[in-house]
Amino acid sequence: MGRLDGKVAYITGGARGQGAAHARTFAREGADIVIIDLCADLGTVRYPLADREDLDAVAADVRGLGRRCIAAVADVREQDQLDAVTAQALEEFGKIDIVFANAGIQGVAKFWEMTEEQWDDMIAINQTGVWKTAKSTAPSMIERESGSLILTGSMNCHEGLPEYCHYTASKHAVMGLMKCFAIELGPHNIRVNCICPGVIDTPLLDNPMNREWAAGFKGADKDDALAAARHWSILKGTALLPPEAISEAAVFLASDEGRYIHGTSLDVDAGHMVMPGFNHAPVQPEGFPRRQHEGYNPYAT
Ligand SMILES: NC(=O)c1ccc[n+]([C@@H]2O[C@H](COP(=O)([O-])OP(=O)(O)OC[C@H]3O[C@@H](n4cnc5c(N)ncnc54)[C@H](O)[C@@H]3O)[C@@H](O)[C@H]2O)c1
Repeated sequence: MGRLDGKVAYITGGARGQGAAHARTFAREGADIVIIDLCADLGTVRYPLADREDLDAVAADVRGLGRRCIAAVADVREQDQLDAVTAQALEEFGKIDIVFANAGIQGVAKFWEMTEEQWDDMIAINQTGVWKTAKSTAPSMIERESGSLILTGSMNCHEGLPEYCHYTASKHAVMGLMKCFAIELGPHNIRVNCICPGVIDTPLLDNPMNREWAAGFKGADKDDALAAARHWSILKGTALLPPEAISEAAVFLASDEGRYIHGTSLDVDAGHMVMPGFNHAPVQPEGFPRRQHEGYNPYAT
């Protein structure tokens, strides 16, 4: 018996990465799946996004698990495209129980060098796309007085990062949306929560642009990025976390086990948020002698 038997889950950004892991995990737990993805690259995103083959592969896996699947190419920036998929899902599956507003992009640029297109695409997808996804799917859940809406946040719901101002602004907004959706949907018995992933091993992070950003030098490879990622968390042996770590937390939130969890955010970050702030590279005054602090590890047991 699965923990999501008989449910229908609607997942944006489902062709790969976390969204694909959510689709496979939810299907394994008994849910029928609606996956949505742009399946195209964007000029402002410096790594390839998913394609139709990725989407079809996830759909094949879901069907291979014995579940039904609608796999749709749609853009979370376009309300009419989302509404068409929602209508198809209601027509074919009769209901939507779980909505996972997960689609997102990432980019790095100093805020004074960022182009308006970079800013606009980020906000349109990561922030407005979440509102449009909820707007499209909430009415049928309100009608049935039942549902669970999960938003994908980030550590950047809580904190800033250099060259991440558009991403951080969008993810702080996701937290605000979660709170307002929870207030408005709670009286209709629809639960709303946010999952805040730490650093997750998906193409959004594992790409040449981000390896260099994380490791801090040009030409950084995956091992360099992994070494850098170890500084992100405290839990022993963790670097980039598997996307299934987020899916498992989502199953808990979406299932009956989470029935009283509403209006909250769940960090899945191997301890990142409890790390004390420490600037490893402060700008020292002119002539200040360099001190060697390598070798000292306050977290070592
Ligand atoms: N990877 C991480 O470390 C990390 C950490 C925190 C939060 N997140 C968030 O997790 C979510 C999933 O990202 P991921 O890590 O799986 O990355 P990913 O790039 O593997 O997956 C994102 C998916 O969203 C799709 N997408 C992008 N724009 C879209 C649009 N306009 N309409 C529909 N689909 C679109 C992409 O094609 C891709 O399949 C994002 O919201 C991201 O911000 C990721």
